[in-house]
Amino acid sequence: MTKYIGILTAGGDTPGLNAAIRGVAKAGMNVYGMRVIGFRDGFRGLMQDRTVRLEGENVSGILTIGGTILGTSRDKPHKMPVGGKKLDMTDVMLDTYKKHNLDALVCLGGGGTQKNAYRLLQKGMNIVTLPKTIDNDVAMTDVTFGFDTALNIATEAIDRLHSTAHSHHRIIVVEVMGHNTGWLALGAGVSGGADVILIPEIPYQVERIAEAIVQRRRDGKHFSIVAVSEGAMSVEMAQRLRDAEAEVATAEEAGDKKARKAAKQKVRDIEAARVESTHGLTRQLEALTGLESRVTILGHVQRGGVPSPVDRLLATRLGTACARLIHEGTFGVMVAVRGEDVEPVPLEQVVGFRKCVPLGHPWIQTARDVGVCLGD
Ligand code: F6P
Repeated sequence: MTKYIGILTAGGDTPGLNAAIRGVAKAGMNVYGMRVIGFRDGFRGLMQDRTVRLEGENVSGILTIGGTILGTSRDKPHKMPVGGKKLDMTDVMLDTYKKHNLDALVCLGGGGTQKNAYRLLQKGMNIVTLPKTIDNDVAMTDVTFGFDTALNIATEAIDRLHSTAHSHHRIIVVEVMGHNTGWLALGAGVSGGADVILIPEIPYQVERIAEAIVQRRRDGKHFSIVAVSEGAMSVEMAQRLRDAEAEVATAEEAGDKKARKAAKQKVRDIEAARVESTHGLTRQLEALTGLESRVTILGHVQRGGVPSPVDRLLATRLGTACARLIHEGTFGVMVAVRGEDVEPVPLEQVVGFRKCVPLGHPWIQTARDVGVCLGD
């Protein structure tokens, strides 16, 4: 019996998405005789039934292309913006799923997408997910595709910033993406030889960073590169965020909606202030060290363009394994990288967990061993 499968890509785009779509579609069609369709723009396309046939021409020549041929969005199935409101549209999505007689829906995404896909699983759809994000923060997989490409881009940027920082005797603070985790900043910082690396997992003290930079100057090095993860926070800010999050939890327990809303707003305000903190940090370092300082925000350049060979290979492995799992009738899982293997992991073990950099992680020790200041 021919199996019908749908694919969508959701959340921020990531290099390797097209390689994964191609992997699912080629293995699905050529090895298992499946019919494959794609939904445009993430869960929104599933709701609106906007499809594209994924066969022949459509999945040829896309291995090396960045972004996603299907388009993506950050829309959530249960809070879909419709007519100025946010509505639960999961039943409408289930109708689309049934209309196309789908045997499975493949959702490619990061932590948020895993959660949204899980909601559709609970509605009765056969779901399989793949872990993609440049942040590398999806639980239960050793790595996500997109991370390697972003690591290459961020490392090259740090390399390039070195010569200009050196020539002008400046501090250059380079902000690296990563959402609430420090994988990308830590990886690129160590690979690019940053002198200071700040990650969300290790709240920093600005005086410690200034001391390290001043010590470098005493040692004859009149420039410094500070790689800061976009989610990095000072010790004080981290404490305020923890307090606000505790307020949210207390209000939730008490069922106090008003207090919960106010506490949530506090969390959002602190997070918004954090976005500004790279500029603030740079000004503080200039004042404390007397060295001229500049900021470079790498931003979306980190997830644009062609995927690295490592990501092409990984996304193709995950995509083809996904087709095999669907053929075997394994659903409700994320296809994860575990050691040398690619394995299905129940979605329950993925959803609601974030893979942060463990404080005892070898990359952290490595950074310390080569004299990097981590701000603590
Ligand atoms: O999750 C990937 C990511 O690039 C994060 O590193 C970053 O915080 C976020 O997406 C940016 O989101 P947007 O593309 O919506 O600006």
